[in-house]
Amino acid sequence: MGEAANVFIEGDNLDVLPTLPALLGRAVDLVYIDPPYNTGNDFAYVDDFREDGSRRSRHQAWVAMMRPRLLAAREVLAETGAICVSIDDNEVAYLRLLMDDVYGEDNLLAQVVVNLNPKGRQLGRGFATNHEYVLVYARDARRTVLDASSSDGVDERDFNLTTPDGRRYRLLPLRNTNKKFNPVTARTLHFSVWGDPATGRVSTTPYDGAVEIEPVFGDGRPAVWRWSRPLIDARPDDLVCRVVKGRTGDRVDVYQRDWLLRDTPGGRRKKLRTIWLAEEVGSTDTAVAELKELVGHVFESPKPTGLVRRILGTMPDDALVVDFFAGSGTTGHAVALQNAADGGSRRCVSINSAEPTREGSNARNAGLLSVADITRARLQAVADTVGGGYEER
Ligand SMILES: C[S@@+](CC[C@H](N)C(=O)[O-])C[C@H]1O[C@@H](n2cnc3c(N)ncnc32)[C@H](O)[C@@H]1O
Repeated sequence: MGEAANVFIEGDNLDVLPTLPALLGRAVDLVYIDPPYNTGNDFAYVDDFREDGSRRSRHQAWVAMMRPRLLAAREVLAETGAICVSIDDNEVAYLRLLMDDVYGEDNLLAQVVVNLNPKGRQLGRGFATNHEYVLVYARDARRTVLDASSSDGVDERDFNLTTPDGRRYRLLPLRNTNKKFNPVTARTLHFSVWGDPATGRVSTTPYDGAVEIEPVFGDGRPAVWRWSRPLIDARPDDLVCRVVKGRTGDRVDVYQRDWLLRDTPGGRRKKLRTIWLAEEVGSTDTAVAELKELVGHVFESPKPTGLVRRILGTMPDDALVVDFFAGSGTTGHAVALQNAADGGSRRCVSINSAEPTREGSNARNAGLLSVADITRARLQAVADTVGGGYEER
């Protein structure tokens, strides 16, 4: 395979997946897929009544379609890799059990709720559903390189203090403010430290001018520290003693200096929560707008690139990515955008079948005869506008 960031392969993914190892010459780091949701409109997955009176439900039909494809995907994944699957309420219960079966329930990393329709579904009766899911599984949870954190949730404005040499930081109480942690539940973290608010110095041993400080909650009940004694001794510059106004008057307390820029590659990162808001990752509406800008309103329910970019952010920036239900090519678009943003060298293989577009649809009227034509059109437009190149296999 050449060096283009985006590669497209037309075909049934069940046929194409086994050809990837020879084509790519290496294992895949990340699979992201958004399979058909089985809303009841998909002809392929209707209830199937047998002659003997038994019935195969549409869920069973959907699982029967998905199982061999998920197995084939597992075969191409690196031991350190991960797979993320978008799904909605129709099949989430079936997919979760199927994934447990194929990938192992110990390898479930998260069932993320994604708020893709912030206004909520207004059609039909009942609840205005405004979320779907992404199931995240590691190929092997002990070995995966997936880092469940992100650098974009960090708000620099929270770091309101600056040292004389210009380093930004904020103060966090060294005391553990979570009531679950107290001298009974975390005995070794309840001890006295000594501090001097005039100099800020903190120590685990008494010294001249220092006052003894015990960790206490706001109401005066005993609390515990977040750092052990050895950690406090090892990082004295990251702690400061200050006088603070408490409910019962002034008291002396100890704070951690939490630096904006840590000595970690990629800077400061924040643990990803399991509810992803449309304002953070985009919505179905913003996804339609993104596609419209490049190709036109030619696909009904694309995913926003922000959703895929957040997933990409959990993997190394040279990840080899595969989307074998590529649809309008959102994953390839997200890969090109992410590379442009951080200088990464990710590559993406998109696979989609030549499913015909509907007669009279925008896509058909634009000369896009199959969904594969839509994928191609978008990935070509991505290469033209964002860069990274495009290649077809
Ligand atoms: C829900 S859409 C994916 C949408 C995509 N995430 C996006 O943002 O545009 C699922 C896609 O899978 C494709 N598809 C369904 N069965 C397939 C198969 N067996 N092999 C390859 N593609 C398939 C359909 O043509 C459809 O475009």
